[in-house]
This record gives sequence, C-alpha cells and structure tokens, in this order.
Amino acid sequence: MRDAQPKTIFLSEYRAPDYGISHTELHFELFDAHSLVHARLHFRRSDTASDDATLVLNGQELELQALALDGEALDAQDYELSDDVLRINGLPASGVLETTARIYPQSNTSLEGLYRSRGLFCTQCEAEGFRKITWFPDRPDVMSTYRVTIDADARHCPELLSNGNLMETVELPNARHRAVWDDPFPKPSYLFALMAGNLSRVEDSFTTMSGRKVRLIILVEEIDLDKCDHAMDSLKRSMRWDEERFGREYDLDVFHIVAVDDFNMGAMENKSLNIFNTSCVLAAPDTTTDAGYQRIESIVAHEYFHNWSGNRVTCRDWFQLSLKEGFTVFRDAEFSADMGSRSLKRVEDAMVMRTQQFAEDAGPMSHPVRPASFIEISNFYTLTVYEKGAEVVRMLQTLLGENDFRRGSDLYFDRHDGQAVTCDDFVAAMEEASGRDLTDFKRWYSQAGTPELTIRDSWDAEQGVYRLSVSQQTPPTPGQPEKEPLVVPLAMGLLGEAGNLRVSLEGEMPDGETADNTHRILMVDQPHQEFRFTGLPERPTPSLLRGFSAPVRVDYPYTAEQLLALVSRDDDEFVRWDAMQQLMVSALQTLQAEPRRSSLDPLLEEAVNAICSQTLDPAVQADMLRLPSETYLAGLASHHGKADVHGIFRAREALRAALAHAFRQRWEQLFDAHRVTGFYAARGDQIGARALANVALDYLASGNEEGVSRAAQYYYAADNLTNRLAALRTVLREGDAAVGDALLDDFYARFKHEALAMNHWLSVQAENTSGDAIARVRALMEHPAYDSRNPNKIRALIGAFANANAVNFHKEDGAGYRLLGEVVEVLNEQNPQIASRLLTPLTRWNNYAQGSELMRAELQRLSELPSLSPDVYEVLSKSLA
Ligand code: BES
Ligand code: ZN
Repeated sequence: MRDAQPKTIFLSEYRAPDYGISHTELHFELFDAHSLVHARLHFRRSDTASDDATLVLNGQELELQALALDGEALDAQDYELSDDVLRINGLPASGVLETTARIYPQSNTSLEGLYRSRGLFCTQCEAEGFRKITWFPDRPDVMSTYRVTIDADARHCPELLSNGNLMETVELPNARHRAVWDDPFPKPSYLFALMAGNLSRVEDSFTTMSGRKVRLIILVEEIDLDKCDHAMDSLKRSMRWDEERFGREYDLDVFHIVAVDDFNMGAMENKSLNIFNTSCVLAAPDTTTDAGYQRIESIVAHEYFHNWSGNRVTCRDWFQLSLKEGFTVFRDAEFSADMGSRSLKRVEDAMVMRTQQFAEDAGPMSHPVRPASFIEISNFYTLTVYEKGAEVVRMLQTLLGENDFRRGSDLYFDRHDGQAVTCDDFVAAMEEASGRDLTDFKRWYSQAGTPELTIRDSWDAEQGVYRLSVSQQTPPTPGQPEKEPLVVPLAMGLLGEAGNLRVSLEGEMPDGETADNTHRILMVDQPHQEFRFTGLPERPTPSLLRGFSAPVRVDYPYTAEQLLALVSRDDDEFVRWDAMQQLMVSALQTLQAEPRRSSLDPLLEEAVNAICSQTLDPAVQADMLRLPSETYLAGLASHHGKADVHGIFRAREALRAALAHAFRQRWEQLFDAHRVTGFYAARGDQIGARALANVALDYLASGNEEGVSRAAQYYYAADNLTNRLAALRTVLREGDAAVGDALLDDFYARFKHEALAMNHWLSVQAENTSGDAIARVRALMEHPAYDSRNPNKIRALIGAFANANAVNFHKEDGAGYRLLGEVVEVLNEQNPQIASRLLTPLTRWNNYAQGSELMRAELQRLSELPSLSPDVYEVLSKSLA
C-alpha cells in the first residue's frame, strides 16, 4: 500500500508547523466519473520558522492538475511531489498557493475523504481523510476559516451543503447549480465536511440562552422522514443541557445532521454539518431497539457537545485525542444520566469498561489514554481513549467536586477558545480553578494498564476499629514494564446489619462534600496504605468502589454472605449490581469446575429473591438478573490464567437452566408484572419494564417447551423491535430449528426493505450458537441482505459472529478464525479501518486455553500478505510481537 514498512510517529517528536493557513477557499466540481477540487490556501510563515522553511502539504490518491503561487504556475524545481506529500520550497512569508486535484469519489471504498454512499457525495475527514480531498497541512494544529463552493448536477444533487453559513446559490449551465458556504470559525481540516445529493429535510428550531434562533435540519432519504423525531428531540435536549450544565451555547444560525448508509463510525462532529451513520439517527419502534433509541440520544448529544469540546477548542495533535473524545464521552454520559437513571447509566458504563476496556488494557494493543506513539491513528479510536478517558475526566470531577470542576471547564473553554491544545492544558485549567496540584493524577494519561486494588481488612471488636489495607499494582503492558502508583478515588461505605454505618476515618474530619456521613472517598495514591475507621458498633462489610469511582479492578475476598448483604441492603446500586455479578461469577466458576453439580448455592437463591422482592429500578433489576456475559467471564478467566470458552459456555447454560428451574414462579410474576401496555415509547419506565419482562421470558423459556411457545407468540404479538428480537433470540436458543427458521423467515418478510432492521436479522443468526454457525454466516455473506462493502452489514454479520458467538468463533478446527481472516484479507484492500477493527478478537489469542496457536497462525498468515494497509499492519505486528 502506501509504505512498505509504515513509520511509527512519536508524541515526543511533535513540532509546531512552520506555516499556518489562515484562510482556505475550496471549489468542488462534482461529476459522476470524477471530481475536481480547486484549492486556494492563504498561507503565512510562523514567527518561529526560519526563512528557508518548507510548506508541507499532505495529499493521497490525488492527481495534480495545476499548481500555482500567487497566480503564477510553479516550475517542477519549486516543489517535490510524492505519494503522500507535496513540499514547496522557497516560499515567501505569506501568499496564496493554488492547486487543482482530480479525485475519484465513486471508487473510494475506504469511506475516508470524499466518497459516495448510495449515490450521495459525502465526506469523512477525521482523522487524516482531508488529504484524500486536496493538498493541505492535514494536522489539527493548522486552523483555518473556509469558504467552499460546490458545483454539481442540479437534479441528482439538489442539496449542496458544507460547513457554516450559506452565502449564495447560483444556477449554472448544463442543468448544474452552485452553492457557496462560509464558515467563520477557524477549524482544523478534520472538521471539514461536504454533502451533495438528493435527501429530504426535517426542520425544527432552537432558541439559545441568549435568544438566538437556530435552524435545526436533519437530512435523510425520503422514506426515512418519519424516523427523525427522536434524533431531533435528542438534539434539542442536548442543546439545552449544554447551556445549563456547562454554560455552552451554540454559535451559528444553522445546524445540520446528515444521515448516510455507508459510514465507518457512528457519527462525526463536522462544524455545523454533522454526518451520521443512518443507524445512529433513524428511529422507529419496528426497526429500532430500546438500546438503539438510547444510543441515538447519546450520540446526537456527543456530536453536538463536540462543538465546544473538540471544535471551538480542538486537539494540538492526535496524541491528544482523548482531550476531545474522553471529555465529550464524559459529557454525553452525564447528559444520559440526567435524561434517564444515573445509576443505571453507571452500571452500563462500568460493564463496558470491565468487559471491553480492561481487555484492551490487557492485550497487545494496550496504550495509555494519551498514547506516546502510533503507526495509524485510526487504530487509536479506542475504548481506552474514549471510555477510560471519560473515566479520567470523571475522577477529576470527583476529586475537585462539581463546582471546581465546572470552574475548571469554564476556564478551559474561555482560555483556549479557537486554539488547538493538549491534555496538559486541560488539567492545568482544572488545577488553576481548584488550586490543587494534579501532577500525580496526570499519570492516568501516560500510564497504560488496569490498576488492581488488593484490599484486605481486619476488625478490632474491643475498640470498634475496622482497618482496610489497600495495595495497588498495575500489570506491565507492552513498552511499559514498570508501573507507578496512581491517584485512585475509592468511593466506599460500610454496611452493617441494619444498613449503612456512619463512616469516620481516623484522623480526618467527616467528608464535607457528601450529604450524609455513610459515604467516603478514600484517596489511594501509594503502593500500600491503611485506612482505619473508628467508632463502629459491629464488624462491617465494606462497600467498595461505589458508583465505579475509578477504572480499576478490586480484589477483596468477599464471602457469599457479605455479597448477599450488599445485594440486599447497600445504598449504592452499582455495588449491589456488582455484588450480584460476583455471586453469579462464583456460581459459574463452581459449575465449571464441577459440571455435574446441579444445586444452586442457597445464598445465590436468596440474592435472587432479594432482587425480585425489592422496589428497584426494573432496568437495574434486569441487569442484576442477567447472567454475566461470556466475554466478561473470559476476560476474568484470562486475568487469572486462561479462558476455556467452551467450559464458560456450558457453565453459563447450566446456571441459566438452574435459575430458570428454581424460580419459575418468580419469572412468571416478573413477566406478567412488567408487560407494557399502550403505545410504544422509548421512555425510561417502559424501557426498564421491557428489559425485565424479557429477562424473565428468557428464563421462562429455558428448557421449557411451554415457555418457548410463549416466546414464539410474544414474537408475533410484538409491536416493537426490542420485544421481537428478545423473543427471537430466546426461540433460536431454546426452540427447534424449524420454529426458529419460521420466525427468521417472518422477520425477513416483514423487514426486508428496512436496512437497519436487517442488520439485526443478520446479527441474531451470526450469534446463534446452535447448528453450524460458520456455514450459516458464509451463506449469509451471499444473501441479498448482506453487502460486503457496507460497514454496518459487516459489523452486523462478521463482527457479531466473532465477538458474540464464542463457541463457534473458537471452533476447535480454527474454521471461525479462518472465516474472520478471509474477510479481513478482502477488507485490508477495501476499507482498512474496518479491517483492523474487525481483527480485535483474534488479537486476544493469548487469553485462551485452547485455540491460541490457530489464532496466531491466522494472524501470521495475514501478516504475510503482499500489501498490508498501515491499519492492519500495526495491529498484526503488535499482536504477533
Ligand atoms: N469524532 C468521532 C468520529 C470519528 C471517529 C471519526 C474515528 C473518525 C475516526 C465522533 O465524535 C465519535 O466519537 N463517534 C463515536 C460515537 C460516540 C457516541 C462515542 C462513534 O462514531 O462511534
Ligand atoms: Zn467524539
């Protein structure tokens, strides 16, 4: 591909650019067979650059048609053009450089740069896609204002959009037309966007806190016009929330969301022209699950929030990616918590961290929140940069308190408005606003790996003193063999027989931040520490890491009695959920060790009874009653040794059957009590009720014919996709193949014209553990519902198979690995970003008791392919190192 041996880029080698571009004029001539991009770059040498500095412009897959300086064509000796760089020597201190590039959007399958999705012209420039559109210093510290002229066929492309404000539209000869857009806010090239095509609009408006009326426009295909309300409502709620919580107001008169079918990611925050994957905008009860509705709300918010955390204040370089992404994920998580249930959102985020981010931290691609090096930046849009980065911001808020944190964020936005800055600048603002020294805390940005807190206790009944000794240790990660202690806010409480006890820490005044005195935040910042709690009437059970206050593992040797106490009585819902997880995990471990054992631990039974009989949020109840995922269990097993995926699968099936059997009555009751009547709404109360009813139904049908036919009826009666899919999954697992096939056929007949619903149809089949899943997936790859170039379809079929069908992906003969390898091989050429993401499950080869040699062999085979994209090369070389 681009390079035989892709280069590693280091943060330590960052240098400010010699030239800035103050203003950029682009003129696009879009045609069916090719497009022309005329650029006029108003450059200016920086004060610190020497007189003989070179202007370095990135450019890839561009054909140079014209090149001029201040109106004069450049001679061949004035510039050097290679595959990815155009260097211009001997430039004056300022001037205008003009280029014309010929590009081929219709044959761009990488979905980076300017490409076509179902005929529509659209762009994706983050991180380094702008260089596939025109020559430009394609780095985020070069910020420029843009004026963009778009010419295209008027009939095929009635809509012509770019960033900022529409300045004029012009009719042109040959049935063509023109639009001119101007974006007054200086921005890096990665925020550039263009859309040209035939879409329909939904329009609404929002009045900002200072009284400015903003037009809100969502553009989708005509048949999807009825699926935009939820996204529009989410957008308005986000705009209001950002004003109230962060004091941030929108800054232009128009805000567009464009939905496209072919998109590598979920969505992109281009200034005033967000481009979304259709799967993250369109919502209708029949074609979108409850989780889908929630994802749309949070992603619309996320991209909108970037207008400040990302656009007005951007990143100096891509090592600082978490500056915008971690902060914005924190912001969208807070928004979701405020729109729904705070503790539920926390449980769900903790689940993602512990299942996926911890696995990343423990794997060959492990990296800090602010990586020190990379080969391909696209590989670093990771759970670590996003989710762990958000946890780091959350810990800052916990340490500083909400008020100082808000002061810090105000200072950060005000001080750096219009700048490209670093994570250090962010923390510096927090330090200044709070007067605290965060030097030690900042290690979270540079040190990779998941810290583990080992906690032991002792009790002095005579004195009423309870002691917790806390040690922290972070396992080595690639390139970082030695780890230093981190600053870990450990939120905790002490549970007694009748409820949470007063916590008084020896030598400290009670915590002023919290309303009650049953909750504390311990500052764990040494390798070993001891905390003494005094004045206790009884030996407490420690309630640890409340609210998942830090992204760490906790090792405390809870007895089953203690876990039951936490499940039943603790004040913190995260701790209650976590205690239930631990009870289930130990039941599963017992079942794995003694497969014949069929009796349930009576304490686990009591825990289930406690959960069922309490007035908890049904959504949290559902999360507590669901079995821990196979992926989570495999991650835990590999942390202590090697994972046996087949053993995990069997143990999980056995525990499901045992719970199903032991609580039949309860499942009946729950199912009946939580059936939603009336019209579908993606509201918290209904979503929670559906979640719980569907968990109950799944247990009801487990090993029970009557329950399976109930699930089949429920499938047919469903008035929404959540229930329909839940029933379908249950029947596919528990029912006869013929019944499952009938439901699948019915689903296909109903929704074959709904691309987003068909993604679920592909996924349930890919995830189905019964029958020959590999043959089924291979057959589906030839099905008209599949499209080997559409990322949503690839994720729905191949991604679901490799990530959510462990027993088949890990088939003993390696056929699952080979299937994934073959797909990656094709995508390596077609769409390297998707190829390298898809590889993730294979990179975890070292975690497994069986199959690791075959997984490695597949990686090895791929690494010997003649042309590897930098994306795939980086993942392979790190996984095989
Ligand atoms: N800036 C990203 C989109 C992006 C990621 C573009 C990688 C290019 C490469 C956007 O803000 C984002 O983070 N999107 C997430 C969803 C979000 C809710 C975490 C996505 O697309 O998955
Ligand atoms: Zn983002």
